[in-house]
Amino acid sequence: MDWGQKNRISKVIRPKTGKSVMLAVDHGYFLGPTTGLEDFGKAVKPLIPYADTLFLTRGMLRTCVDPNTDVPIMLRASGGTSIIGPELLHEGITISIEDVIRCNAVGIGYSITVGMPWERDTILDFSKWVDDCNRYGLVAMAVTAVGKDMVRDAKYLGLACRMAAEHGAHVVKTYYCDQDFEKVVNSCPVPIVMAGGKKIPELDALTMAYNAVKAGAIGVDMGRNIFQSDDPVAMIQAIREVVHNEAKPEKAYELFKKLRKPGHSPKKTVVDQEEQDEAKV
Ligand code: R5P
Repeated sequence: MDWGQKNRISKVIRPKTGKSVMLAVDHGYFLGPTTGLEDFGKAVKPLIPYADTLFLTRGMLRTCVDPNTDVPIMLRASGGTSIIGPELLHEGITISIEDVIRCNAVGIGYSITVGMPWERDTILDFSKWVDDCNRYGLVAMAVTAVGKDMVRDAKYLGLACRMAAEHGAHVVKTYYCDQDFEKVVNSCPVPIVMAGGKKIPELDALTMAYNAVKAGAIGVDMGRNIFQSDDPVAMIQAIREVVHNEAKPEKAYELFKKLRKPGHSPKKTVVDQEEQDEAKV
C-alpha cells in the first residue's frame, strides 16, 4: 500500500487507539429528510469535533459543511433508489473519482447488495472503485447493505463482509448481529466498522457498540443512534468512550446522562418519519 493510502487510512482509523468513530449522515440519499438531520448543517456542526470521519454525500458536504473543517471526509458513492421506489438498494455509482478527489475526501463508501437480484452489478462496480481508490491512494469502504427480506445474521453478514474483502475493500461497514459477530469479524481480513441501524435506547446502542468492538470491530460508522439521540452531542461522546477508551456500556451511559442537556432531543417533524421507522433499513 502506498504512503498516501496509508496516510488517508490513518485519518479514519486513529493510530493512537487503532479505532474509529465515523459519523454516518448520508441517510438523505435515499430517505430524504430524516429526524435529526432536517437542518443538516445545524445538526452536524456540533458533532464534528467528536467525529473521526464524516460519511456523507457530496451534496450535503458542499452545501452544509464548512470547508475550513479538519474532519476527514468519506463520500457516499452509491445510490439511485429511494424509500418509496420499487427497488430500494438497487444502487449504482453516483459520483466520479475526480469529484471525490476534488472534495478532498479520504475515500468513499459503496453499498454492495449480496443476495439481491442485482448483486453482481454492485460487486463489479465496487471492484472498479477499489481500482480507482488504489490508483489515487484513497480508501474504499464496502457497505454491506441488507435487503428487506434478508436476515441480519452471522451467516449472511459473514458472507457479505468476506466478499467485500475478497474484492479489495480496505474497510467494511456492516451491521451487528447478536450471535457470532466475532465470526463475521474473524473471517474478514480488513477492518470492520459497525453501522448502528434504527434508533434504539441509548444504553442499548452503547452496549451494541461495546459488543461489536469487543468482538473485534475497529469502531462504528453510526448515524441514527447518534443524531436521533435524546442528546446527539452527549451520545457521540459516550460512543467515543466505548470505542476509544474501552468504557463499559454502563459507564458510557453514565457519561451520556451527565452530559445530556434538556431540550437537545430532535423533534419528529419529518412528514414520513413513521414510514421510515417501519422500513427495514
Ligand atoms: C447505510 O447504508 C446508511 O446510509 C447509513 O450510513 C448507515 O446505515 C449507518 O447509519 P445508521 O447507524 O443510522 O444505520
